[in-house]
Parts: sequence; structure tokens; C-alpha cells
Amino acid sequence: MCGIIGYTGFREAKNVIIECLKKLDYRGYDSAGIGIIDDKLQVFKEVGEITHLEKEIPAMSGDIGIGHTRWATHGKVSKENAHPQISPNKKIAVIHNGIIENFKKLKEELENKEHTFTSQTDTEVIAHLLEEYYEGNIEEAVFATLKHIQGSYAIVVMCEDEPEKLIGARKESPLIIGVGDNENFIASDIPALLKYTNRVIYLDEGELCVITKNSVHVFDETKKEVTKKEDIITWNVKDAEKSGFPHFMLKEIFDQPDTINQALRGRVSEIKQTIDFPENVEKLLSNGTDSIHIVACGTSYYAGLVGKYIIEQICKIPVIVEIASEYRFFSTRNKSSLVIAITQSGETSDTLAALREAKNSGCKTLAITNVIGSTATRIANGYILTQSGPEIGVAATKTFTSQIILLLLTALKIASIKNTLGSNDLYNYILQLKELPRHVRQILDNSDEIKRIAKQIKDSESVFFIGRGINYPLSLEGALKLKEISYIHAEGFAAGELKHGPFALLTKDTPVVAIVTNDPTYNKVLANIGEIKARGPQVIAIADEHDTEIEKHADFVLRFPSNSTLLSCIPITAILQLLAYHVASLRNCPIDKPRNLAKSVTVE
Ligand code: M6R
Repeated sequence: MCGIIGYTGFREAKNVIIECLKKLDYRGYDSAGIGIIDDKLQVFKEVGEITHLEKEIPAMSGDIGIGHTRWATHGKVSKENAHPQISPNKKIAVIHNGIIENFKKLKEELENKEHTFTSQTDTEVIAHLLEEYYEGNIEEAVFATLKHIQGSYAIVVMCEDEPEKLIGARKESPLIIGVGDNENFIASDIPALLKYTNRVIYLDEGELCVITKNSVHVFDETKKEVTKKEDIITWNVKDAEKSGFPHFMLKEIFDQPDTINQALRGRVSEIKQTIDFPENVEKLLSNGTDSIHIVACGTSYYAGLVGKYIIEQICKIPVIVEIASEYRFFSTRNKSSLVIAITQSGETSDTLAALREAKNSGCKTLAITNVIGSTATRIANGYILTQSGPEIGVAATKTFTSQIILLLLTALKIASIKNTLGSNDLYNYILQLKELPRHVRQILDNSDEIKRIAKQIKDSESVFFIGRGINYPLSLEGALKLKEISYIHAEGFAAGELKHGPFALLTKDTPVVAIVTNDPTYNKVLANIGEIKARGPQVIAIADEHDTEIEKHADFVLRFPSNSTLLSCIPITAILQLLAYHVASLRNCPIDKPRNLAKSVTVE
């Protein structure tokens, strides 16, 4: 959601903050603002891209400041509603990510005390309360203000009368401290800081920090100082750059041969023929030998659905996959089943809420995430990391394929714990896994062919994706990718379901992408393609390179290299990603930042 940065140090704060905001704008990009203390507190805000804001800010030499990119929750997109929000006396500024649930009541109380509000945001009440409680010490005012606030927040506050300090606080929204030499940072996200430091401290729930350029102090809710450990981030600046690609999304699709290797590295031994997680989750996984419950949102949810097919096939145990925001309405909590939360960011509110609920009900919990130190890694009993490097494009790509790899490794590990997998089977999987980077590279080399097919659907109003078995969740993911970045209406269906309703929507102008693999469903999918063709639409098949039959049935065929049916899901995904990318690119869509979306959804 919103991106947050605070800086105090020896550099010109304005330049650092603009630089960091540019790295954060994937979190929200409807408006942005900056506050600098240059003798007096000065605030500048603009609607739209960070570059609009950058042009409007005059030269300033202040060395302390805060900046924000907004993803609107309360109040329309406007200059007044952008952050920082300031106190009525214009001395205190606050930036905020989250939702203040009781802001209407607080606002009314403040209005009764003659406070006048200038925005429609929930955040402005924080600035007003800070002025109410300020008695010469800004951290005390923050402590006092937070006692009245219900909801979620990550905030950074600064005060003209104490120009050496920044105060940060968090509850249910992420916030980290970046530790430098003679400079310190507070940020919502690691990529903001990578250019300046790789030393970070993660704030925990309810904690508040006070930073100056030379000091960092963290306190818990009772104002007791807590000792925090510094973590070193292994991502580097290059990982968060486009490296010559026109979009982050394309770069991240092309990163996949490497990120797949990263997901396998240190976990799969071809020589010993074993799967081991350095994260020490073996004992935790032994809780998953009877049943598994997966919770996640969006693309991570679809990874969970793919994982269901993989785990059920390899381990022969039942897997339930639930959309995280629906999990709370799920009435059966089986304490003996392992609950796996899948979340690229580790900060998705709905997924974290489900994770907390599972843990509170006594279930053992495992998080699969890309961000070490994220809230998910702190809540769950254990975690495994996708190790994909930062994913900046709003559309999840490389993290999706790595989530699937980790689910597969999890399945293989559980099967070895249960002793249900023959050693030959395990060895074969290991060999096929090792082939995956090469297979994905083959797809990437075929990107121009995929672009040619993309031209066939770029002007369509609606596109259907179909598949059976493991290819059904891939159809859902293919449709999500397309709709999210190209704004074409797209739906994924289990191939057998079309005749139960969706056929009514099918016209000759609705292209259908059919995923066809050499498995027991093959002939049924061909029959489904026949039913579709009889109604006029063009069919684009995604099929095995050795399938000689498919050309008789489909109008166009995109090929993937032969591998086991379970593992084909990875190269097939790369085709679906490139198809969506090229369609969106041909339609000139803002691929990395689709309208109304944000990379990390930290509100429920
Ligand atoms: O960070 P998470 O994996 O928890 O995010 C979940 C979804 O918000 C995310 O996958 C979203 O659906 C993507 N933008 C899809 O490309």
C-alpha cells in the first residue's frame, strides 16, 4: 500500500527522500508528498507520479525529512489528501500507512475542541492529536496519541521544535529502520533503502522508535526500551533496477531461470538425494503429515491451489486451500493440520490475519514468503524463503514460480518424512527440478512468438483460460495476469465447467487459451476445445513440444518442453506471463503499476 520513508543524516534530505520514494512508488502511486525541516517545517505534495512532486520542490538544504507515496483509502486522490498531514500549528508532520478505524469519532471530538480539518483523510486526526498532546517531547506525544487510535498503522512523525528526531511506530503495518553511518532511515520497505544501507532493524508489533542521525532507540508499548538486532539484507541495488528491460515485470519474468535456481539452492542435493530446508522446518513439517491447510490471497492463493495438486499427488494427504480473507468464516480448525500461509510480501493484511487466527486456534503454522523479517516470518512457527530478490512489478511473476517450487519441495520433504516416496521417485523429481531453469529459458527465448500470438488477442473484450487438474489454477493465474495488467476482462475456468454456464458468454470474438498436457485428462480437454470451436472462438493451445495431435484442434499453439506433468506448470506459467505482458505492452498499459492496484495490500 502506501510507501513511507524518513531520513536523518549528513546528506540533503530532499534528494535522499525523492530517490527513496522512486523506489517505493510500486506500493502506491496516486499522489506523493515530502516534508523537510529546513529551519521551518516545509511540506510539498502533488497528485500523480513522484516526478511531478520532484519538479515542484525548491532547493532546500535540510538534512531531516519524511516522504510518502499514497494508495488512497480515505478521501479522494488530491493534494490535500496526500501525506504528510500536518498539525494545525504546522509544526508537526506525519506520514501513515494503514487505516485508523475510529477516525470519525476522533475527528468529531477534535472538531468540538475547535480543530478545523483540511483533508478527508483518517491520517489528519493523528497530526491533530499530536499537537494536542505535545508538551515539548514528540515521542511522548506519539505514545499518548497512539493510545487513542484503533486500527492499523505504520507512521513516521517529525516536529519542527525537535529538528534532530524522527519517530516511527507500527501496528499491523510494516516498518523498518535502516541503519547507516552518521545517517539513519525509517521505511516501509527494503528496496527504498538498498542504495544507502543493507543493515536493517525490523520493528515488531506495537513498537516505537526514535532515531537521530547517530542513534536508534526502540521502545515497546509500555515505553520500556528494547534491544533489537540488526539484520543484513543480501539483496543488492541491481536487484531492484530494470537492468535494460522496459518494465520490471519483464525483467522479473526473465529473472526466473535464476530465481528457480535460488529456490532450489541449498535445499536439493542430487548426490545425497535429499531435500533439506536450512530454515530448520523439518519438525514443523512433520505436523503436516495428516492434512494441510493453505491460506493466501491473489496470485499466492493460486500458487496454493497448484500446491494442492502437487501435495495431494506426492503425499496422498488432503489439502484445503482457502482465500485468506475468507478463512475467518471457515468453521473447522483442525489442530492437527499444518497451516501454510503463502505471501510474497509477508505483509498482506488478510493473510496475516488468517495466520494469526490459525496460530491462536492451536495450529502449527508455516509461512512461505520472499521477505526475511517480514511480519509473516514473525508470526508463523517457521518460515521458508523463496529467495527471489525484490519483486517490484505489481503483477507477481518470479515469486509465484518460486512459491510453487517451495510447495513441491515441501511435498517431497513430507513424503520422505512419511516414507511414502520411493527413492527413485525422489531422484526423478530432483533431476526434473534441475532441468527447470533450462526449460524456462527455452520459453523466454520464444518470447517473440508469444508476442505474435498476443497480437491475436490484444483487441478482445474478453479472454477465457481453461485447464483441467493442475492446469485449472494455472488458468486462473493466466487470467488474473491478463486482466490485471492489460485491463481486458479475463476468466479462468476448469475446462469441464464451460458447458455449465460460462458458454453463455462465449462468442466468436472471445479467444480461449487452453492448457493441454499429456496426462489422463488430455482427451477430455481436446473434447472441450472441440465444443468451444463449434461456437466460433479462436483457440490458443499451450501444449507439450511433442504433441502432434493438438495442431488439428487449435488455431495457434505455444509449446513448452516435456517434463513431468506436475513440473510443466512452471514453463506453462512463463508462457502465460509473457502472453499477458505482450498484450498489455501492445495496448500501451502502465504494466508495472496497473490502475487501482498496489504491490502489497496492507489493509483488510
Ligand atoms: O504479497 P502477497 O503474496 O501476499 O500478495 C497477494 C496478492 O495481493 C498478490 O498476489 C496479487 O494478487 C498480485 N498483484 C497478482 O499479480
